[in-house]
Amino acid sequence: MIKTIIGFSKFTKQEKINWIANTFFTNEKDAVAVLKKYWNSDQDLQQLHDEFIENTISNFYVPYGVAPNFIINDNEYAIPMAVEESSVVAAASLVAKFWSSRGGFKSEVISTTKIGQVHFMYDGTFTQLETYFEDVKSSLLEVTGPITKNMRKRGGGILNMELRNKSDKLKNYYQIHVAFETKDSMGANFINSCLEAIANKFKKEGIEIVMSILSNYIPDCLVRAEVKCSIEELGENGIEFAQKFQQAVQIANVEPHRAVTHNKGIMNGIDAVVLATGNDFRAVEAGAHAYAAKDGQYKSLTNCAIEDGVFRFWIEIPLALGTVGGLTAIHPLAKLSLELLQKPSARELMQVVAVAGLAQNFAALRALVTTGIQEGHMKMHLQNILNQLGASESEKQQLTEYFKKRPVSHSAVVEEFNKMQES
Ligand code: MEV
Repeated sequence: MIKTIIGFSKFTKQEKINWIANTFFTNEKDAVAVLKKYWNSDQDLQQLHDEFIENTISNFYVPYGVAPNFIINDNEYAIPMAVEESSVVAAASLVAKFWSSRGGFKSEVISTTKIGQVHFMYDGTFTQLETYFEDVKSSLLEVTGPITKNMRKRGGGILNMELRNKSDKLKNYYQIHVAFETKDSMGANFINSCLEAIANKFKKEGIEIVMSILSNYIPDCLVRAEVKCSIEELGENGIEFAQKFQQAVQIANVEPHRAVTHNKGIMNGIDAVVLATGNDFRAVEAGAHAYAAKDGQYKSLTNCAIEDGVFRFWIEIPLALGTVGGLTAIHPLAKLSLELLQKPSARELMQVVAVAGLAQNFAALRALVTTGIQEGHMKMHLQNILNQLGASESEKQQLTEYFKKRPVSHSAVVEEFNKMQES
């Protein structure tokens, strides 16, 4: 069967659905019904979502939850999280409560500089290139004037622009490396527009512009979050727990296989808030993992210390976030999330997101070095298994009660469910 289609994007939504259903599904009716079940009954809202991307045929729901009781820099927050993994919000809520009676989380923004680059090829001497760059530098800045006008009014704009010689790494390769301050916006469009204007002005015979694009590696757009308490406050076996916890972090610092999973757990919390606030979680992911490898080896994004009877646990992570512009302004739930967070500035949102990552890592490590991860995880996953089995509400209630005191595994749930059906 030939499945290539020309002009698909020009089809109406119904035509697209018909083609998909006819071409790929044996039960066309069911496929269409599932797609339509996820349409929003509010037509304006549906149209808004349709227009976010090309070829929208339905919506893909992800649960939107809230983790209350976070104390960050002495302010209370209920943190919105969009995530499908069963245990993430529950873990965040538990950890928020735990630290709320131990001084809460402290968080500070270290720096907010973002980077963009014009990559180009030049087949001449670096000295000639430097002279040309110095000659045109002020006009390069000038040409971005209309684009940076509003940003400059808000205290942002272009911070610095330099010529970099990369020809030792790749023959004839140079770049204009530009530093930006984008205040409360994530700034991707702003940065890319500036770079394209710079590239246009810079090009001349002998200079071949390859591309102009922001960098998602932003080690100078950095936030730090921390918790600390006395060892006694960690509970009965405080010192054993603290030491094992610290060992878990140390292992992630020396063993990349563990570090990737360790950081994945951090990103469970980070991505959920980034998504719920309409920010770009792929950019955040890419930047965070690059930062984790900044020393030449992939390491933990968190660290832990035990000094003078005090347990300290912290994260340092680059986050490019916005609270104005982009989806934050047009996605109603993103807007609602920001209101729930008391309309934070981008800097405040960086602090909240870093805390969500730290909290998630604390929850994972606490479980891993004590009971193991599966107990809590499978308890949360129980509802998914029951839904998969098609259990009724009363069966769900009975089985949830039954598994409160027993280990949950897929086969154990299936067995109990089947027994219930037979009786
Ligand atoms: C699962 O989504 C995340 C964990 O694997 C993180 C970790 O191991 O630290 C539990």
